[in-house]
Amino acid sequence: MQQAVLQSRNIRVSKSISEDVGIPEADWESHEMPKKKDIFTVQRILESNMGRKSPLMHVLHDVQREIGFIPPWAQKLIARDLKLSFSEIHGVVSFYNFFSQRPKGRHTIQLCQGTACYVRGGKLIMNQLKRSLDVKPGETTKDGRFSLEIVRCLGCCGLAPVMTVDGDVYRKVNPERIGDILEDYR
Ligand code: FES
Repeated sequence: MQQAVLQSRNIRVSKSISEDVGIPEADWESHEMPKKKDIFTVQRILESNMGRKSPLMHVLHDVQREIGFIPPWAQKLIARDLKLSFSEIHGVVSFYNFFSQRPKGRHTIQLCQGTACYVRGGKLIMNQLKRSLDVKPGETTKDGRFSLEIVRCLGCCGLAPVMTVDGDVYRKVNPERIGDILEDYR
């Protein structure tokens, strides 16, 4: 019974999104379009946070955690239900680097470009990573293996330059080590 309600509600929610975002329903199941289960997840998150005084950040954190990113269609849905403009939501998502608008790779590289790391070779490491991965900061490799992010300080400046992969910290990195480091992450 509950499943039937959820299913019919899911369809209703999906149709509404289709109208709002302008996505033909026939295209939804393609890999670039929102999956119905993700639409339903966003709707559930919105409903569970509606009683809060300022629900926006809670909703965005929950969507980021559960879907892995906050795509434009989700931003439009959040804007509609919280009665905010799309540009307000988009501004918040773009401002904080812990929110992502695209799917992330299986592994996340964070390269520190804070002052201590930068002056001790951080730029050379960034150039090596860009060459090895063929991406710019903020992008994901074509095979979905790595996402590259720039951060301003990882809190261990005495061991600069520093980078992390999935939270593993690599200290005193030099460009020659990059290949070996990446090799450990399949
Ligand atoms: S500046 Fe890189 S760890 Fe602090």
